[in-house]
Amino acid sequence: MNKRVLVTGSNGQLGKSIQKIAKENNYNLDFVFANKDLLDISKEEELKVFFKENTFDYCINCAAYTAVDKAEEEKEEAFLINAESVRFLAINCKAHNIILIHISTDFVFDGLKKEPYLEADQVNPINIYGASKLQGEKFVQSILDKYYIIRTSWVYSEFGNNFVKTMIRLSNERKEISVVDDQLGCPTYAPDLAQAILEIICKTTQAFGIYHYCNSGSISWFEFAKAIFEKTETSCSVLPISSALYVSKARRPQYSVLNTQKIHNTFYFKSKPFEASLIKCLHSIVK
Ligand SMILES: NC(=O)c1ccc[n+]([C@@H]2O[C@H](COP(=O)([O-])OP(=O)(O)OC[C@H]3O[C@@H](n4cnc5c(N)ncnc54)[C@H](OP(=O)(O)O)[C@@H]3O)[C@@H](O)[C@H]2O)c1
Repeated sequence: MNKRVLVTGSNGQLGKSIQKIAKENNYNLDFVFANKDLLDISKEEELKVFFKENTFDYCINCAAYTAVDKAEEEKEEAFLINAESVRFLAINCKAHNIILIHISTDFVFDGLKKEPYLEADQVNPINIYGASKLQGEKFVQSILDKYYIIRTSWVYSEFGNNFVKTMIRLSNERKEISVVDDQLGCPTYAPDLAQAILEIICKTTQAFGIYHYCNSGSISWFEFAKAIFEKTETSCSVLPISSALYVSKARRPQYSVLNTQKIHNTFYFKSKPFEASLIKCLHSIVK
């Protein structure tokens, strides 16, 4: 019998990417894609009823509050979705013996390290979004034995709003833009992450715990923008600036490169290089 997989927050970048990858491959999985209208994870009672009426083997939680700057002013909402609602989900997964795959972020780290972050490294978020996601991780770990927490970074895709789409839009509106050059990280193409998650489900290895996943290659936002502009052959030029000159409400880690050895060694797949995935995404956007 096929495994039954619930995908929450299915209208977001990762949720839509899982739908795309599931359609393109035959994983022998039966999916229920639940967007916020069908299943609002912050509604504790509705969640309880939903899990009572439906049977699943896995729940992939793609639902999240992801507005990093806005979170500084909407702390309660960020913690409700990224922490308290994750607690509700974990309780239901425990009650119905469902394996939870929860997605977290590089923003649980403070960015003071000088080499790629390992899963066991000290966490110390420096903004509300990161703190709310860390609390979500803690709830999952304290409630469940059967879970995967997958921390990822700098997610982009042909779906929703993200850095790549913003850069393309700005390059059509301006002759020149400035992008910060002193924050280093790893871009992650959401369909690559989606594929990694579905492969984890299909492998029989049940090595539960925290994992890091991103595309390979670490760059600054400026270098990322440069790569986008080169590949789209725009006439707009991009200038490097320091984050001290770029005013934003939330502080961001200076360095949030993730070490992905653990997920590679455990599940035997390799992260794709960021440039190849960027090209794929650009093809899908301009199609
Ligand atoms: N984007 C990044 O750069 C990044 C980086 C690191 C980690 N992550 C993590 O990766 C995961 C996926 O991110 P993403 O980029 O796919 O995010 P996204 O595009 O913002 O999608 C999040 C989805 O969650 C939905 N949602 C919000 N509140 C909900 C609720 N109460 N119940 C059900 N659904 C709800 C949103 O619906 P509405 O739009 O209708 O509110 C949206 O469809 C998240 O856990 C995020 O924290 C993302």
